Amino acid sequence: MKENKPVLHRVLGLALGTLGALGAACGTDASQEQATPSAAPSASAGPANAVQHEMRLLLAAMHKAMEGIAYGDVSGLPQVLHQVHEAKSGTEAALEGGTYRLPKNPDGVARFRELDEAFHGHLVKMVQAGRKNDVAAAAQAYAEAASACNGCHGEFRK
Ligand code: HEC
Repeated sequence: MKENKPVLHRVLGLALGTLGALGAACGTDASQEQATPSAAPSASAGPANAVQHEMRLLLAAMHKAMEGIAYGDVSGLPQVLHQVHEAKSGTEAALEGGTYRLPKNPDGVARFRELDEAFHGHLVKMVQAGRKNDVAAAAQAYAEAASACNGCHGEFRK
């Protein structure tokens, strides 16, 4: 089995070459990431207003959803998304009572509500998929929800 050695070497060489390329790509990304540390707030970012509170729960729920999709069990989705739904009531109350002001386009509350409603429709689909533990449907709804983050942020987040 002496011929196997060069083959193995070639395979390893290829694999290492690929890893090297990935490493280079990651290196570039990492250096860009460092330039915008404030763009990645987390639960440790201090006290949150109503929308930030909802958004932090939402981000955590999206992480959970991806984990469920990855491991083939999305039955926990209704529970985590329920927390986001409750926080949405807080956002509505704060907008209504004037205690929250949108960081960008503060006069666009009607438009914000419209986007928010549409967005929560995606979350409802994720809940329904979770109830049936339907991973494919959850992934589809997850993708729809994930593609809606950026639009609203562009209009209303600084
Ligand atoms: C309907 C509008 C809307 C949608 C949809 C939306 N966001 Fe947001 N998001 C906002 C606004 C407005 C802010 C800024 C809140 C502030 O700073 O007062 C924000 C801020 C955030 C923050 C920062 C919170 C903090 O602690 O400062 C995170 C994280 C976030 N959004 C995640 C998401 C994710 C993930 C999605 C999609 C899955 C999403 N958002 C969808 C409106 C939206």
